[in-house]
Amino acid sequence: MAETGKNIDLAADLLLKGKLVAIPTETVYGLAANALNEKSVLAVFETKQRPFFDPLIVHLPSIESIAKYAILEDQRLQKLANAFWPGPLTLLLPKKANIPAIVTSGLEQVAVRIPNHKLTLELLRKVDLPLAAPSANPFGYVSPTEPAHVEKQLGNKIDYILDGGSCEVGLESTIIGIENDKICVYRLGGLAIEEIEKVIGKVELMINSSSDPKAPGQLKSHYAPKKPLFIGDINELVKKNKDKKTAVICFGEENFNKQDSTIFNLSKTKDLQEAAINLFKFLRLADESDTDIVICQKLPEEGLGRAINDRLKRAAF
Ligand code: TXA
Ligand code: MG
Repeated sequence: MAETGKNIDLAADLLLKGKLVAIPTETVYGLAANALNEKSVLAVFETKQRPFFDPLIVHLPSIESIAKYAILEDQRLQKLANAFWPGPLTLLLPKKANIPAIVTSGLEQVAVRIPNHKLTLELLRKVDLPLAAPSANPFGYVSPTEPAHVEKQLGNKIDYILDGGSCEVGLESTIIGIENDKICVYRLGGLAIEEIEKVIGKVELMINSSSDPKAPGQLKSHYAPKKPLFIGDINELVKKNKDKKTAVICFGEENFNKQDSTIFNLSKTKDLQEAAINLFKFLRLADESDTDIVICQKLPEEGLGRAINDRLKRAAF
C-alpha cells in the first residue's frame, strides 16, 4: 500500500529524491516524477507498463515558468494559454535541451500543462521542477479520478498518493498543437472545442485512433475496461444481449427496457459536465460489477459529449 495524505512537504521531498508520487489534478490523477531525472521518468514508464514511444506531459506551475523548458511563441497558443491555464489544456511546444528525450519519446516537442488544482500547484511551486505525469493507471486502462483508484492499481508500486479528493473535470486534458501553421486538436478532452474556437477561431481535428506513436494520445486501445463494452442505442443493445448480465451506462431518462441490468446514469439531468465527472468512475464500477458486458449510450456530439464519446469508442470492443 502507498501512503495517502495531504502532505505537500513529504510529496516534494520524495519527488526531489527521485521517487514517484501520485498527484491530483482537475482532470485525472497523474503519476508524477521529476521530469529532469531520467531514471525517475523511466520508473514512470515501468510502473505503468507504458511503451516508451508514448510521451509524457510535463506539468508546470505558471506561464512564466515555461520559458526555461519550452518555447511558447505562437500568438494563438499564447491566447489559449492565457484563456485556459491553469486548466484542462495541454500545448505541444518546441522543447528546450534540458527536457530529456525520454520524456518526449525523442520528439522535438514537449507537451506542457498547468493543472488547476490547489495542492498540485503548491507542490509544483515547492519543488520548482517540471513534473512529468501521465495518468496514474496501468497502460491502456481507465484513468483514475479518485485516490482510491490509484491505490487499487498502483498502490504497491509507488511511494505516496497526494490526496486532492475527486477530480473536478474527470476527463484528461485537451491536447493542442500546430501542424502546417494550423492549430490542431490531437486529443479531445476536458476543455470543449467550442470553448477553444471562441478564443482563436476554427481548429482542425486530428483525432484518429491509430498505433502510430506520432498520433499523440490516440492509441486505439486506450481507456479500456476489461469487460466487452458496446456503444449505441441502449434499447437495441439490451434486447440483443438479454441472455447476458449487463451493466448499462446511460445518460438522461431511463426509458429503456431495463431487464435485470445494473444501471449507472452519467447524468439524469443530461448535464455533460456531470457526465464527464462520472464517466471513469462508472466505467470502473461497471467493470467491477457482477456482469458480463457493459452497454453504453452514445452522448450528444457537442461540448464535452464529444470527448466522452471518444473515450467510449476507445473503450469499446
Ligand atoms: O489531463 C491530463 O492530461 C492528465 C493529467 C495527469 O495531466 N495526463 C494525461 O497523461 O492524460 P497521459 O500520459 O495519460 O496522456 C498524455 C498524452 C499521451 O497519450 C501522449 O501521446 C500525448 O499526451 N503526448 C505527450 N507528450 C507528447 C508529445 N511531446 N508530442 C505528442 N504527444 C504527446
Ligand atoms: Mg493516460
